[in-house]
Amino acid sequence: MACGVKIWYLMSIMLSPLLNFRSFVHGEPQVPCYFIFGDSLVDNGNNNALVTLANVNFSPYGIDFPVGPTGRFTNGRTQADIIGELLGFDSFIPPFATTIGSDILKGVNYASGGAGIRSETAKALGGRISLKMQLINHKVIVSLIELLLLGNKAAAKDYLSKCIYSVGLGSNDYLNNYLQPQFYSTSRKYTPDQYAAILIQQYSFKLRSLYKHGARKIAIHGLGQIGCIPAELATHATNGSACVDTINNAVQLFDKRLKPLVDDLNKDLHDAKFIYINTTSITSGNLLDLGIIVLNTPCCQVSTITGICIPGQAPCSNRTEYAFWDSFHPTEIINLISARRAYNALLPTDTYPIDIRHLAKL
Ligand SMILES: *[C@@H]1O[C@H](CO)[C@@H](O)[C@H](O)[C@H]1NC(C)=O
Ligand SMILES: *[C@@H]1O[C@H](CO)[C@@H](O)[C@H](O)[C@H]1NC(C)=O
Ligand SMILES: *[C@@H]1O[C@H](CO)[C@@H](O)[C@H](O)[C@H]1NC(C)=O
Repeated sequence: MACGVKIWYLMSIMLSPLLNFRSFVHGEPQVPCYFIFGDSLVDNGNNNALVTLANVNFSPYGIDFPVGPTGRFTNGRTQADIIGELLGFDSFIPPFATTIGSDILKGVNYASGGAGIRSETAKALGGRISLKMQLINHKVIVSLIELLLLGNKAAAKDYLSKCIYSVGLGSNDYLNNYLQPQFYSTSRKYTPDQYAAILIQQYSFKLRSLYKHGARKIAIHGLGQIGCIPAELATHATNGSACVDTINNAVQLFDKRLKPLVDDLNKDLHDAKFIYINTTSITSGNLLDLGIIVLNTPCCQVSTITGICIPGQAPCSNRTEYAFWDSFHPTEIINLISARRAYNALLPTDTYPIDIRHLAKL
């Protein structure tokens, strides 16, 4: 879906007045642009045109979003939407699938439901845009930005170095790969520790490629407690625990390697700043104090097969009391808490070594 489809961009871009660009650069946001790489947690419509079970462009998704269903896997805004607002953008960063013309200058959202660090991840669900493909799409956008800047590569490089890039993948490499031995062989080939190490190695390679495309301010989002999501609670024995501990333990092996990865990247690529967003820390506070009292039951009525909301069925009415929207994805209230703490750390463990607010200021 990368090159051919995007050629028509060239035409709209050639025709777009340079004036738009100028007024945008002198506008409000703390950084000129925000690029988002990820999975269903931040997908804002890229999967709509794909044939996949990871497709949610229908009601009740988006019930609390200004324009209703958009392909966002939640009731309202995603974490990326809210981080964009906190960075001062006055509209949401558009999805790669539908962004046009000079809009790409403020950033693009490449995220795709089902996407993983590994390309085979979520193959059983159908189409998805893996991290590898997201980077190929980004390469197309970078070339178009160079064109918008009249072929001035140095200007494009300088411009791209000021943007924030957020990257959050890995959940599906567990949920839609390692934890599904009926479809994928990884759990037979690798121990949890070996698998975490291989994922980090592949992630490192791809993050370095993002750097090669000009990224210099990069936030890497860690994985949450996947063993606590309703989909896993419904399919695994918990042995008396509130969560599936074996899953949390496996995912923790990945998370534990992210801080050293950030250190390595900052050491090797010293004109860049990578930060780590500690999702475990951010979501481990007492949600009850915040009025979020339903922690393991989805708000919408889910399909027992897919864990996705059943189209057209009314969801719970008190959505700010629920942590989960469907069997996999958090409600907007959780996205709000996560975004705020990634942007402006509440605890020292929330972000490392700095939060997104400080990353923007560098
Ligand atoms: C369940 O928990 C008990 C007590 O903590 C432990 O001895 C046992 O090995 C656990 N079983 C499984 C299958 O995890
Ligand atoms: C992430 O947060 C958890 C929970 O607060 C903490 O145990 C862990 O050490 C943190 N990780 C890093 C790298 O700061
Ligand atoms: C939320 O609303 C439903 C009815 O819509 C009600 O049954 C439930 O008790 C309310 N509170 C919680 C925490 O679910």
